[in-house]
Amino acid sequence: MKKLLIKNGTLITASETIKSDLLIEGEKISAIGDLHVPDTGVIDASGKLIMPGGLDPHVHLDLPMFGTVSSDDHYTGGKAAAFGGTTTVLDFIAQPDTGSFQISIEEWMQKAEKASIDYGFHMNVTRMDENVLKEIPSLVDQGITTLKMFTAYNGRLRLDDGNIFRVMRAAAEFGMLPMVHCENGDVIDILVEEALQAGHTTPVWHARTRPAWGAGDAVLRTAMLAKQADAPVYIVHLNTRVGLDQVRYARENGVKLMAETCPPYLFFTEEHLERPDGAKWICSPPMRSEEDNRALWTGLEDGSIQTMGTDHCPFFFDGTTPIEYEGEKIAIPGKELGKGDFTKIPNGTPGIGDRMPVLWTSGVVSGRITPNEFVALTSTNAARIFGLYPRKGSLMPGADADIVVWDPNKKVDYGVAVAQHRTDYNLYEGMKLQGFPELVFLRGKLIVEKQQWFGKRGMGQYQKRAPRAAIL
Ligand code: URP
Ligand code: ZN
Ligand code: ZN
Repeated sequence: MKKLLIKNGTLITASETIKSDLLIEGEKISAIGDLHVPDTGVIDASGKLIMPGGLDPHVHLDLPMFGTVSSDDHYTGGKAAAFGGTTTVLDFIAQPDTGSFQISIEEWMQKAEKASIDYGFHMNVTRMDENVLKEIPSLVDQGITTLKMFTAYNGRLRLDDGNIFRVMRAAAEFGMLPMVHCENGDVIDILVEEALQAGHTTPVWHARTRPAWGAGDAVLRTAMLAKQADAPVYIVHLNTRVGLDQVRYARENGVKLMAETCPPYLFFTEEHLERPDGAKWICSPPMRSEEDNRALWTGLEDGSIQTMGTDHCPFFFDGTTPIEYEGEKIAIPGKELGKGDFTKIPNGTPGIGDRMPVLWTSGVVSGRITPNEFVALTSTNAARIFGLYPRKGSLMPGADADIVVWDPNKKVDYGVAVAQHRTDYNLYEGMKLQGFPELVFLRGKLIVEKQQWFGKRGMGQYQKRAPRAAIL
């Protein structure tokens, strides 16, 4: 079996920092310690940090929306992720409008055949009846152990509280984890109708019609429903101070509730949506205020928030003008679809490759979180919560050799020219980064070296996830 020795690095795990060598054999980590292995390729990692590959628990690749599709697919999105140090992503399968989950599972498995990094799936539950309820346990057999529900997008994706409760109860019975998108769909619908009637069409009205307190009320309601269903629950893309307060209340009062936030909610505010190019920042839930940014940082620092996802759901800002991607011109309809009507702007932002470098600079270099907390937030906690640990998210012998050799001194002027997302803009344009992946390995294979890509279409493998995973 092919061996590779990474010597003289500093291993960073969620709990330890150790100066150590690390041996890869085939697809696995086989040893750590002071290692002398004859006849082996050696990488000198002096001055570098060795971390488990990132696990992004929240991405939308090749997702149809508003008559277009998110502009990264499982190949391009995985490639962009890898350049930022992420080697596994969890994508969401849309429940079909009629019939069995199986129809969509097959569709998404087929889309993902081209995946360039490892991947798993969550299942959206956006329609409920007795047949749906009966089919839920069959998902576990296929390694899909998480069910996402929405408290917004009335008439399209939302489940009412009774049905959320029913799904949560079923999830608890089979060791699955419900995930909830928290906004108040009823209030949003009223405000959107009023805004359009008053002739408000610009991007900022997206945020103005989705109040922060609606996200707060939905987090609290979700927590209370989970408690009544005796189920754990995971709040996706937490974006507000008031929501975080409810997370803390729930956790302090015995609700098995976990929360994820996403980098844009730490940096951007409603004011960004007021810019002429404000559509770039449109996603749901929306950007909020500086007070919310600050509060979410405290949630990361004190452990109230356990994971950093991206909710990567990119669209072109101007999908009428092609960009060059792998030597070819490509344009995919995007944010311009909502020119003159904010309700028609595809919801979502790019971020899959930004996540680790941006969090390293703004979190670790700034001293807000430790390198170990960084690994916990970007890899290990998600691996544990989503049933992939210790195969993913760890540097233990026996784990998959998904490894990032991180250069903590590398300085990068970040932006669309560096990030590898298949879109025409980057939210962090002009940000000065310190610390960047130098080498990235997926199950022992080198896929990224500095700005060079060695990965291949189809080399990503589907990851079956275990039920009854950790509750952090
Ligand atoms: O705007 C967003 N976040 N688009 C993706 C769908 C979702 O709710 O996560
Ligand atoms: Zn959502
Ligand atoms: Zn999402």
